[in-house]
Amino acid sequence: MTTIIDGKKVAEEIRAELKNKIDWLRSLNLRVPGLVTIMVGDNPASYSYVTSKGKACNAIGMLSKIEKLDETATEQQLLDLIDFYNSSNDFDGILVQLPLPKHINEDKVIERISPAKDVDGFHPITIGNLVIGKDTFYPCTPNGIVELLKYYKIETSGKHVVVVGRSNIVGKPIANMMLQKKEGANSIVTICHSAAKDLSRYTKDADILIAAIGQPNFIKADMVKEGVVVIDVGINRLEDSTKPKGYRIVGDVDFENVSPKASYITPVPGGVGLMTIAMLLRNTFLAYIKITKQKLA
Ligand code: GUN
Repeated sequence: MTTIIDGKKVAEEIRAELKNKIDWLRSLNLRVPGLVTIMVGDNPASYSYVTSKGKACNAIGMLSKIEKLDETATEQQLLDLIDFYNSSNDFDGILVQLPLPKHINEDKVIERISPAKDVDGFHPITIGNLVIGKDTFYPCTPNGIVELLKYYKIETSGKHVVVVGRSNIVGKPIANMMLQKKEGANSIVTICHSAAKDLSRYTKDADILIAAIGQPNFIKADMVKEGVVVIDVGINRLEDSTKPKGYRIVGDVDFENVSPKASYITPVPGGVGLMTIAMLLRNTFLAYIKITKQKLA
């Protein structure tokens, strides 16, 4: 029997819990956590992500601000804005929406964000702490995956986790998180990428398969074993003239054919994607707690 992992339900529970904590802060007339999202230029996908992050903050009573810089803004203007929010007392989290225009050095920008406010978990110090198992801000999508595995009480200790994809945002951090000698992790981890000559050789051995490739329906039924746990991180647009928007969203996994073999599987949409924003809100709350030294967590 296959269990479809309900990311919507888990994300809603997390948001409700955060809302309760923020309501309580308000009832005590305390400052509430704040997130600033900075975007440069007019990329429509980025705009839609940034808007939904803002809405999610407002829905739980968090302070939210969107700073929109023109496509032609200089790197220095962006760095100055980050400096402003690094020293702001109202904002605990700073997120710079990626990708940035070509003339801006992404690494330099990420490194400018104070690690204390790095709620995306992209700063090299944050990532370094993650790798050596120290308490840190976990990047939102990987953290959402771990949260789903814990919620469904899926055994991870000693299990073979196969990650397909080696991005800095998902593949590398989730592999390192699953490797830690901690509850909800302690896995044997393999990372695969585009240079794998026979990908199935690895994916067929996975107890838990994490697909973060960025190609629609890439993982097929003959690439997995019976009983596998499938976590699909893909969010791909497929043309579909029957849909009002002219496209539909599909994952990296051929859900229809893979799901009958899986013990657990995340749908797309409705799986990992919804967890990402919930984890961003949680990171912002944790940043607030650390910054204000309030003992609420
Ligand atoms: N662009 C796409 N996903 C993300 C994300 O999680 N964080 C940031 N900052 N930019 C993104």
